[in-house]
Amino acid sequence: MRVDVGPVSDFEDHRVRIVNAGDLEVGVLRWRDRFFAIHNRCPHQKGPVCLGIVSGRLGGAAPGSMEVDEETPVLACPWHGWEFELERGRALWDKSYAVKVLPVSIESGRVLLEVGRSRD
Ligand code: FES
Repeated sequence: MRVDVGPVSDFEDHRVRIVNAGDLEVGVLRWRDRFFAIHNRCPHQKGPVCLGIVSGRLGGAAPGSMEVDEETPVLACPWHGWEFELERGRALWDKSYAVKVLPVSIESGRVLLEVGRSRD
């Protein structure tokens, strides 16, 4: 089932907006020209993961160096700080944990979520 959650212009860049899609509460993130949709339920202790902080993924090529990968958005759960990459929803520290990620499409300037199917 596809759910229309509003016009693209309603979604501020680098911010998560919580919407209702079917029976799910979903956080929709606009990251420049890309959109991600995440079920607002952390796989750790069911916290409201979409209320956490979003940033580019931190990394470094060598000890003592740090770089921000702005192509890879990461969401940190506000309860205990678990971080998830949003392409597949996997936790950074253990990929066996993942938030549910929904497919997003843009049609005629509207943001559409595919509910009932995980993004692969
Ligand atoms: S509930 Fe999200 S990290 Fe614990």
